[in-house]
Amino acid sequence: MNDSILNQLMNHTSIRHFKNQPLSVKQVTTLIDAAQHASTSTFSQQSSIISVRDPKVKDELAVITGHPWLTNSGHYFVMIADQYRNLQIAKAHQVDPYVLQTTDKFLAGVFDAAIATQNIMVAAEAMGLGGTIMGSILNDSDRVIQLLDLPELTFPVLGLAIGYPADQPELKPRMPQTMMHFDGSYHLPADFDSQLVDYDQLIAEYYGTRSSNERQESFSHHIVAELGRSHEVRQDLLATIKQQGFLIDES
Ligand SMILES: Cc1cc2nc3c(=O)[nH]c(=O)nc-3n(C[C@H](O)[C@H](O)[C@H](O)COP(=O)(O)O)c2cc1C
Repeated sequence: MNDSILNQLMNHTSIRHFKNQPLSVKQVTTLIDAAQHASTSTFSQQSSIISVRDPKVKDELAVITGHPWLTNSGHYFVMIADQYRNLQIAKAHQVDPYVLQTTDKFLAGVFDAAIATQNIMVAAEAMGLGGTIMGSILNDSDRVIQLLDLPELTFPVLGLAIGYPADQPELKPRMPQTMMHFDGSYHLPADFDSQLVDYDQLIAEYYGTRSSNERQESFSHHIVAELGRSHEVRQDLLATIKQQGFLIDES
């Protein structure tokens, strides 16, 4: 058993404060290598990665995500679900590329991009770096598609800011396994309500004692607040995914 890998996984925290130091070319190459070695659905390698270096593009991504600190990271990646490359292979072989437009292949691209993202995160932490995954690039996916010149059958899935950590945030406590790991079939525990009360208290204490961004918020409050927020943005997401050529009507 490799305890150091397990130890690293159990001590993950997202890093949002970075030292002013860019990643080297070698570091970036190693991270991309780690991404490429992730599992990939049907060995179709249906993800791509864009390194964003242009300060103007980074500034715009900072506005889209609401995360001005991304501009201080040592390197910024955007992870792309990508069936465009395989479309070129289909065309070269005069094969009907219809399958690449299906929901199944959209999901496969999203899985590949997401799993590659986590590989970069784990590799970065092993290299003494840290970072934050950003779903918030989807706040304006149309603009991200424009900024990065994304062709048909591609979609920006996640942003990823990586760099040298300038702080070490406290571990965010996860819920007890009894609330999320079930034997054989799905069943919440009989005492779910009281387990949730305990976990709510744990999270409220975590936020209350946190050295940065102190607030009083339980897990339940957090979920309720998230439900309110998700109506405000991303209403055009389905239309944008379809505009990129995915989710074709299969009926
Ligand atoms: C798919 C995904 C999207 C995320 N998007 C954002 C984001 O847009 N902004 C951000 O600050 N953190 C984002 N995060 C990081 C989560 O907020 C973070 O992982 C979570 O709060 C747990 O904290 P920890 O990573 O420090 O344990 C995202 C994480 C995932 C997996």
